[in-house]
Amino acid sequence: MPMNRETHVFHTNREDLERAAQLLREGQTVAFPTETVYGLGANALNPEAVKKIYEAKGRPSDNPLIVHIARLEDISQLVTHIPEKAKLCMERFWPGPLTLILPCTDRVPSAVTAGLDTVGIRMPDHETALQLIALAGIPLAAPSANSSGRPSPTTAAHVLEDLSGRIAGVVDGGAAGVGVESTVLDVTGDKPMILRPGGITREMLQELLGPVGIDPALSDAGIAPKSPGVKYTHYAPKGTMFLIEGEHDVDKIVELARAARHDGKKVGILAAAEDADAFRSVFSEEEGAVILEAGSRHDLSTVASRLYDAIRTFDHHGVELIYAQTYSEEGVGLAVMNRLRKAAGHRVIFS
Ligand code: TXA
Ligand code: MG
Repeated sequence: MPMNRETHVFHTNREDLERAAQLLREGQTVAFPTETVYGLGANALNPEAVKKIYEAKGRPSDNPLIVHIARLEDISQLVTHIPEKAKLCMERFWPGPLTLILPCTDRVPSAVTAGLDTVGIRMPDHETALQLIALAGIPLAAPSANSSGRPSPTTAAHVLEDLSGRIAGVVDGGAAGVGVESTVLDVTGDKPMILRPGGITREMLQELLGPVGIDPALSDAGIAPKSPGVKYTHYAPKGTMFLIEGEHDVDKIVELARAARHDGKKVGILAAAEDADAFRSVFSEEEGAVILEAGSRHDLSTVASRLYDAIRTFDHHGVELIYAQTYSEEGVGLAVMNRLRKAAGHRVIFS
């Protein structure tokens, strides 16, 4: 596909969604909002259309895509069978931010599965996404609609920042809510395994299913992950990010930021809402420190929903060094810390 074509911005009215659906049926790529992040959609049953996703994103072709459906019936052409635990998950969490890895039929092109014999499927909890999939009348393969390696987009503006001129259209449905990508759960084995933490938490899954494991590769950079996408550098700001752990994190960040400014570096601080004023009383923006509030320690869903926008905002300010506070790994905190560690390239400083 030519890479310098105009990207059409659609709105969420019926007429616009029909036009966007038409492009998808014709084998084009259209980005759309979901409750997690924006996805870059294409007809999941058409390998040529799916190839355009990889081209537009610059995505490695060994990284499989998630297929999005609007109705439960749509799954039958995609999977050979649905294990009991998967059924329970669908009843409880769909539509919602949970991707289930299931054994796939040969109708699913290898361009979608990257040659695996499984496929990731989810039903997004977003009115516009569901309408678009239903109008298109086809399942949509859709990875996050960012250039490969960049933070996932939570607004249509983020999508255009990365992919304008490289995709046929984007449906502007306002900001995505959850802010981090769906939980990826492998339900093909005896014990369900979380391959990527997200909005449906381990605690929520265990309440329904009993013991749920976590892919060991998520906590050990040396092991090859089962979810191929997890191994790539991801979510990364242009500047270098460090996570500051421990009790004295505020003091440590102040010390590091002062030293970096002394060296003439442009510094960013990603602060918990509870500590932002403490940083603001030390630094002001004119002095070269950009202080952004990630969200509250008492409601980690606020951190999830602001994280990627904050990383992009640091980039807009040309920040070279970012010091970020850390959060509890309970609930959605597991997903937050997973994305923060990746954004920081696993650079952690203890205070
Ligand atoms: O919230 C989301 O999941 C967003 C929205 C757009 O739905 N999509 C998204 O897609 O994050 P993507 O492509 O950026 O991430 C898909 C993840 C990757 O880590 C990929 O490796 C994994 O899911 N995945 C997909 N199919 C898989 C499979 N058959 N087996 C294991 N992992 C798979
Ligand atoms: Mg992605």
